[in-house]
Amino acid sequence: MLEIKELKVDVEGKAILKGLNLKICQGEIHALMGPNGAGKSTLAKVLAGDPSYEVVGGEILFETQNILEMSPEERAHLGLFMGFQYPIEIPGISNVQFLHAAYNAKLKAHGKAVVTEEEFQKILDEKMALVDVKSEFKQRNLNEGFSGGEKKRNEILQMAVLAPKLAILDETDSGLDIDAMRTVAQGVNTLMGTENGLLLITHYQRLLDYIRPDFVHVVIDGAIVQSGGPELAMELEQKGYDWCKNF
Ligand SMILES: Nc1ncnc2c1ncn2[C@@H]1O[C@H](COP(=O)(O)OP(=O)(O)OP(=O)(O)O)[C@@H](O)[C@H]1O
Ligand SMILES: [Mg+2]
Repeated sequence: MLEIKELKVDVEGKAILKGLNLKICQGEIHALMGPNGAGKSTLAKVLAGDPSYEVVGGEILFETQNILEMSPEERAHLGLFMGFQYPIEIPGISNVQFLHAAYNAKLKAHGKAVVTEEEFQKILDEKMALVDVKSEFKQRNLNEGFSGGEKKRNEILQMAVLAPKLAILDETDSGLDIDAMRTVAQGVNTLMGTENGLLLITHYQRLLDYIRPDFVHVVIDGAIVQSGGPELAMELEQKGYDWCKNF
């Protein structure tokens, strides 16, 4: 469903991604690991369509369509979902307002009738139960004053509401306590079906105990230098990234 070919990206004139290749098929979970500054979040932002990243080479196909020409909204409507390492806070917009608007925008983009706030409340209640988010979060402003763990949990709620084809989660585990990590992982696992794909960016093997990847990739200096199964994450935990630099 996603094919990234020889992707080269510059930020402020500096080469960050240097020919990255990655293919994700339906039903697959891919984990992306690698040292700080390797370019993992850069890849996530380029996939989302962040204009501050300049694509200087390669292509990104999502369901055979070239998404590099598309706006972030068009990409979202195609079924791409991005959870960021540092989710933004939007004062003045409540979580429920935001999610309702996003849900209806998706329905509209697919030529379907929108739902009223009352109808959406029911949908939201089901999703909140699924990912174990407290109901008080509905009326709170989007991410404002949320703790790190709450933001991440809220991100999974957004994912549940939007039901994307492909989700890219950047360090979903950061800031989560052990119980929260289990809940979030459970939510992600519930949302993952044979039709979906998931790209999970993480530093820690322990998340992969809960969300079992089919493939693990190591990014070093803007390219994937090593790919394998879940055992690769175990090996990295023991040997560190220096071990990979020799590949
Ligand atoms: N907007 C930006 N402006 C300037 N430099 C940037 C920007 N975004 C990324 N970079 C640089 O690109 C490189 C890759 O950053 P990126 O955030 O993709 O790394 P990462 O692999 O996600 O690291 P981490 O594991 O620490 O999250 C870094 O050297 C970073 O400083
Ligand atoms: Mg990052």
